[in-house]
Amino acid sequence: MKEELNILVQAQYPLIYLVTSEEERAEQAIAKIAQMNTQHRRVYVWTVTHGIVEYGQPRQATQHNTVSPEAAIEWTVRQREAGIYIFKDLHPFITSAAVTRWLRDAIASFKGTEKIIVLMSPYQEIPIELEKDVSVIDFPLPDLTELNQVLTQHLEKNKTRRITTEVREKLLKAALGLTKDESEKVYRKAYVKASKLTEEEVDIVLSEKKQLIRRNGILEFIEEDETLDAVGGLEELKKWLQQRSNAFTERAREYGLPQPKGMLILGVPGCGKSLIAKTTSRLWGLPLLRLDMGRVYDGSMVGRSEANLRNALKTAESVSPTLLFIDELDKAFAGGTGSADSDGGTSSRIFGSFLTWMQEKTSPVFVMATANRIERLPGEFLRKGRFDELFFVDLPTPDERQAIFNIHLSKRRSDITRFDLEQLAKVSDGFSGAEIEQAIVAAMYEAFAQDREFTQLDIIAAIKSTLPLSRTMTEQVTALRDWARQRARPASSSVAEYQRMEF
Ligand SMILES: Nc1ncnc2c1ncn2[C@@H]1O[C@H](COP(=O)(O)OP(=O)(O)OP(=O)(O)O)[C@@H](O)[C@H]1O
Ligand SMILES: [Mg+2]
Repeated sequence: MKEELNILVQAQYPLIYLVTSEEERAEQAIAKIAQMNTQHRRVYVWTVTHGIVEYGQPRQATQHNTVSPEAAIEWTVRQREAGIYIFKDLHPFITSAAVTRWLRDAIASFKGTEKIIVLMSPYQEIPIELEKDVSVIDFPLPDLTELNQVLTQHLEKNKTRRITTEVREKLLKAALGLTKDESEKVYRKAYVKASKLTEEEVDIVLSEKKQLIRRNGILEFIEEDETLDAVGGLEELKKWLQQRSNAFTERAREYGLPQPKGMLILGVPGCGKSLIAKTTSRLWGLPLLRLDMGRVYDGSMVGRSEANLRNALKTAESVSPTLLFIDELDKAFAGGTGSADSDGGTSSRIFGSFLTWMQEKTSPVFVMATANRIERLPGEFLRKGRFDELFFVDLPTPDERQAIFNIHLSKRRSDITRFDLEQLAKVSDGFSGAEIEQAIVAAMYEAFAQDREFTQLDIIAAIKSTLPLSRTMTEQVTALRDWARQRARPASSSVAEYQRMEF
């Protein structure tokens, strides 16, 4: 990515947009590029507080009267020597007609000179007039080498400490996904907290990282204690997942296997889609990051939603290998309440950038998406090759219902021999896993209110008094099945049930 920046600078691209919240690192990178090139260029930095100041100079060395964006851009036009002009946080001003015009005039006048304007801000905000002239670069988060510098500095400051290579490596990996400042902070905090130089520090760094990621509000670390055993049925899907549990190892690469990209689990509500996505994290031993698409959307400013998505994906990539869990993909890309037109095209743009990312990503981020309304899902998602596999999770078969009863009863009582699981499975025809669980809970409440232990009959009564979703929403469920039968792979090893069941 820094190379890309270097190339743009060398190739004399007059306007570069650098999306980053790490100003210091980015400035340093630019300063380095400016020196590296045969044509030595001076670097200037503009802020709304100080106007234009030469990079590395004290703030008093400001070019007077360049606080206003227009004046600052005009100043760059007047310069005769080669230079790189970094504008920090111009984004609130860039939509003003005057600023846009000044920028266009400036870059036109830069032709044949060695002058470049770099817009640097955490958000991408580009007026249409400028779109064709700007090259956008995402400034990457620090890699292991850069983090190693941070850690080394930290260790030098605290001379007493020595760490093994192994712990060092773990500490570095644990901080992947953080900015330079953030990693400094977590190392300092871990140092204060940990009494000894043990793995404890790694844990502290990891948990700090989770906190920081949580704070960005779009990605969330999910900790799931359940294993695949907590999922009843869905044997085909489980087998598929089990076969791929070492898919992200070096060994798999050497064997010649491609890196799995992702899977889409389609299905009837309440049948364990989200549950299975979460348990995969334990099975594969990878962290699980949930991407909340609802929070990606931000109508407050054009471009903000895209920036949110890009940042989230960047963070996910930097903590990879990881699972990226996108629940209810259909809702996310239907753009909330409206169609693509009603939100100014934001959802279709978001959708486009997500697809591009999926297509081009080389980092080991496995996307686990779930959906239950295919008609709301853009067709591009379902095209072969986008996801490694498209699974359809149907209502559980009688055998599967038995397994689900077994799981949920065992969770609540250590001895469940008094329940006849086969009978329960029989009477709960058309029930989803979630509804089975609900029936057990309802039966328990009933008995609890009467101050006694719950029984088989309580559960049966609860089942009888419930109208399952598969009956209240028959049409929708049938449509989904008809669609999925042709196109998706069944998650359950027995498909007999769904062929038999008719409403
Ligand atoms: N196959 C199953 N085995 C065990 N429990 C299940 C199963 N299916 C559903 N459940 C129970 O129901 C709960 C809800 O299921 P889950 O959230 O995974 O459904 P979902 O398919 O994601 O539904 P939705 O489409 O509404 O999001 C689970 O947390 C679990 O307790
Ligand atoms: Mg779900």
